[in-house]
Amino acid sequence: MQEQINKIKEIALQEIKEAKDLKILNDVKVKYLGKKGELTQVLRGMGELSPEERPIVGGLVNEVRDEIENKIEEKEEEFKSNEMKEKLEKETIDISLPGTKVKRGSKHPVNRVIEEIEDLFVSMGYDVVEGPELETDEYCFERLNLPKGHPARDMQDSFYITSEYLLRTQTSAVQARTMLEKGGKEPIRMICAGKTYRREDDATHSHQFGQVEGLVIDKKDKNVSLADLKGTLEVFVRKLIGKNCNLRFRPSYFPFTEPSYEVDVSCFKCEGKGCSLCKQTGWIEVLGAGIVHPNVLEMNGYDPKEYGGFAFGTGLDRLAMFKYGIPDMRYLYANDIRFLKQFDRKDEE
Ligand code: PHE
Repeated sequence: MQEQINKIKEIALQEIKEAKDLKILNDVKVKYLGKKGELTQVLRGMGELSPEERPIVGGLVNEVRDEIENKIEEKEEEFKSNEMKEKLEKETIDISLPGTKVKRGSKHPVNRVIEEIEDLFVSMGYDVVEGPELETDEYCFERLNLPKGHPARDMQDSFYITSEYLLRTQTSAVQARTMLEKGGKEPIRMICAGKTYRREDDATHSHQFGQVEGLVIDKKDKNVSLADLKGTLEVFVRKLIGKNCNLRFRPSYFPFTEPSYEVDVSCFKCEGKGCSLCKQTGWIEVLGAGIVHPNVLEMNGYDPKEYGGFAFGTGLDRLAMFKYGIPDMRYLYANDIRFLKQFDRKDEE
């Protein structure tokens, strides 16, 4: 009988060794260890043995059973780990393969300029405010000391939607809005950048363009003066265009400021020596500015005897052109990806 058991063991181990997959292995398991398996049969025949032989044979059967069981388990592990290995090999990702690039848009140069200006003025204590692009005649002109029929309206050929509504021709409309909002009492330091519209279209003008407006109002005893205006604009221009820029104030006329000035910046290309950009004058006209007209203060709720201040306005497109050396304003609105892409690099600087 012991011989028979050893024989079973030998064959079983051989079959386990030769099993090619989990299914065959499972069949082997059933064949030897199952209820009707060969070893079980042997155990059943134990009754015929003498009492002395029984424990010996019983022990041997258990030993063999354990061994077969262990071998089957080992083999199972082997199959499983092979399967896993295969799976891993099949499913590996080649991380050295270049990915598909997601195309990102880039910030428009005018928006870059707006952000830079806003950051600068916020650092000087200004609020950033907004106003509507569809504006009323009242805010765009009347409240800025430009009554209907005023000849200075001719300087700003407008797109009227109705007799009352128009596309704002200047961000100065936001001066009136801010003053009214502050209710004639609080001091004001605001900056407002946005789109403006006029009926003109040529190499240096577009019917839509950007402006930025600044307004500072405070009590008379705070003495917000022309010197403050000049100092502020100097910081502004030097930060944005170049630290060696100088400013020149020329007397001018705006209905909402008195006195009014056109502000020129020394040519950053030739440093004032004279070149094609500045038409040999050494200066480039950049801003309009002045001391807020008493009528404007009064019309918008501030007592001109108690309050005073300055205002300035400038074109964003021109600033962007100067800053980045863009030769033609129309590039800014042509939506040419090749042009816009060049400014991506600016983010890294
Ligand atoms: N709004 C004026 C323009 O568009 C510029 C300006 C703003 C002038 C504020 C003086 C003060 O030309």
